[in-house]
Amino acid sequence: MRRYPIPHTDLRASRIAYGCMQLSRAWDDSEPTPEERRQAARLIETALERGINLFDHADIYARGKSERLFGDWLAAAPSRRDGLILQSKCGIRFAHDPHPGSPGRYDFSREHLIASVEGSLRRLRTDYLDLLLLHRPDPLGVPEEVARAFDDLHRSGKVRHFGVSNHAASQIALLQAHLDRPLVANQVEISLLHHHLINEGVIAATTGAAYTAAAGTLDECRHRGLLVQAWSPLAGGRLSQPETAEPALRPTAEAVAAVAARHGVSAEAILLAWLLRHPAGIQPIVGTTRPDRLAAACAGDGIELGREDWYALFTAARGGPVP
Ligand SMILES: NC(=O)c1ccc[n+]([C@@H]2O[C@H](COP(=O)([O-])OP(=O)(O)OC[C@H]3O[C@@H](n4cnc5c(N)ncnc54)[C@H](OP(=O)(O)O)[C@@H]3O)[C@@H](O)[C@H]2O)c1
Repeated sequence: MRRYPIPHTDLRASRIAYGCMQLSRAWDDSEPTPEERRQAARLIETALERGINLFDHADIYARGKSERLFGDWLAAAPSRRDGLILQSKCGIRFAHDPHPGSPGRYDFSREHLIASVEGSLRRLRTDYLDLLLLHRPDPLGVPEEVARAFDDLHRSGKVRHFGVSNHAASQIALLQAHLDRPLVANQVEISLLHHHLINEGVIAATTGAAYTAAAGTLDECRHRGLLVQAWSPLAGGRLSQPETAEPALRPTAEAVAAVAARHGVSAEAILLAWLLRHPAGIQPIVGTTRPDRLAAACAGDGIELGREDWYALFTAARGGPVP
């Protein structure tokens, strides 16, 4: 797997990352089972064997259990820590936390951000995160307060670098204006199915075309040197099989299958190759829970799609030719 430097850092990340959201499937208070531990370890080992070194977490995934499963694996193999880029996210709170009746909400208060990181470090059984992302923009977030939290976390050695997730260009600019150090990543939903951030650039100057609030996000990330990470890059499997695809998605799934057959790889590898071909240097965060599917998808790193293949997939997905 090829690696590239994450701008503004000394980190070299694999072009494809592994998303740990479903390391534990149960988002409840149950204890992880021995089978869940074995399955999680197999997934982590498969990712490492394929050259993946960046693992994406969040404090909320499976109510902390996904981080716990990863931490249990790491505790049994502590010498692996130096070769890993561990990333977690914070800023979302569940309903009924801390009181019964509390609504699900976002919380960028300094107190919550610091407590969240400390929880992640405990569960992951590590002293530091390489990257911390703000999970979703908090309308009540105050950039000066976030900056203080980032400073404290950096000064105490708990977090090396900071980024955001699901942030638009203007939100990145506002936050960055208050920070002493550069934001280094923005994790957003991008896939051949959810291709709006890419399509926006195509329709930007087209009369009558809708232009959304997220306009310019990819360009802003490129301009500032932020790593763009794509969550749900496989679109949850919805474009993988023409036979079972929803009728509206069948033409796209057929286009994916045709390109996959020509390259002799899986549909998932082509979905990743489509993202990797974009010049923003998009890093897919793959979340399959099947080691065989993960291994096959990583073949996408070795495929350089030509313009014709790339546009064939794009026009199928956008439902028509480019203007
Ligand atoms: N920042 C955010 O707001 C945000 C939001 C969501 C996710 N994320 C991150 O992104 C990562 C990936 O997200 P994701 O899991 O939604 O994305 P994904 O990698 O696009 O999808 C994985 C899901 O698709 C299924 N799938 C893939 N290929 C399939 C096929 N051929 N047939 C049937 N099912 C197939 C997988 O099932 P199997 O497990 O059976 O393979 C799995 O449930 C997460 O782990 C998390 O780290 C971030």
